[in-house]
Amino acid sequence: MATPLVFAHRGSSAALPEHTLAAYLRALDEGADGLECDVRLTRDGHLVCVHDRRLDRTSNGRGRVSAHTLAELDALDFGSWHQGEPGDDLGDVPADPDRTRLLTLDRLLQAVRDAGRPVQLLIETKHPSRYGSTVERRLIAMLRQHGLADPKPDDPVRVTVMSFSPLAVRLIRGLAPKLPTVLLLEVAPRWPRMTRLPFGAQIAGPGISLVRARPRLIRALRDTGHPVYVWTVNEPADLDLVLEAGVDGIITDRPALVLDRLGR
Ligand code: G3P
Ligand code: CA
Repeated sequence: MATPLVFAHRGSSAALPEHTLAAYLRALDEGADGLECDVRLTRDGHLVCVHDRRLDRTSNGRGRVSAHTLAELDALDFGSWHQGEPGDDLGDVPADPDRTRLLTLDRLLQAVRDAGRPVQLLIETKHPSRYGSTVERRLIAMLRQHGLADPKPDDPVRVTVMSFSPLAVRLIRGLAPKLPTVLLLEVAPRWPRMTRLPFGAQIAGPGISLVRARPRLIRALRDTGHPVYVWTVNEPADLDLVLEAGVDGIITDRPALVLDRLGR
C-alpha cells in the first residue's frame, strides 16, 4: 500500500497556535503533504479560519465569531493563549504577527499558492444550520477567485472540502462537481449495504475514536473503493493502529511526528 498523505490539522497545531499562519507555514516546512482548516463566517460575511463557534478558547475575545466583523476579529490576539508543547522555548515568537493574528481563508489560499510546491488543502465547513448554504456558496466563490474550484490534474494546489453534514457534501457537489469531498464520520455509518459512500462523497473521514472502537471499519470503507482519511491521529499507538489498518490520509496536530514515523 502507498504511504499515506500527512495533513496538518489546523496547521502544526500542537507546536503553534491553531489556525494561525505561523502554524500552517511550520507544517509546510516540516514537509506535510497538506493542511486542514475549518472555516466560519464573520458578521460581515468573510470566511475566517476558526474552529470553535465562540472566540473564548483561542483568542482574547468573547462571544460568537459570527457576531463580530472582520475588523473586530482582526484586532484580537489568537496566539497568546497557546503554551506550546512541554519544553518549548517560546523566545520572542509571541511578537510574531503570523502567530497571533486571525487568519482569513483568502490569506491562507494565497500562502498555499505561494508555497511553490504541491499542497493539498482540506477545508471543513461546519453544520450548515444557521446560515443555510451561505458558507458553502462563499467558499466556492472564493475558490473560484483563486482558480481552485475546477482542478486540473497538474495543479500544484488541490482543495478538498470536508463536512460532517451530508447536506453540505451534496451542496458542494452541486456547486463545484470537480472538487473532491470528504464525508466526516463520528459514529459508525448505518447505511444498510456499504457499497459506495452516500451523498456523492469521494473520501471517508472517520475519527480516531471511532477507529479505535471499530478497527475493521477502515477496511470496510476502503473496500467500497473510497480512500480513507482518519482524524486526529496524534499518539504513537493510534498511528500504529491506522498504519496497520492501511489508510490513505492521516490528519494530525503533529505532522513532524507522523512524517518521522513514516521515515520521511
Ligand atoms: O479533520 C476533521 C476534523 O478536523 C474534524 O473535527 O472538531 O477537529 O473539526 P474537528
Ligand atoms: Ca476540522
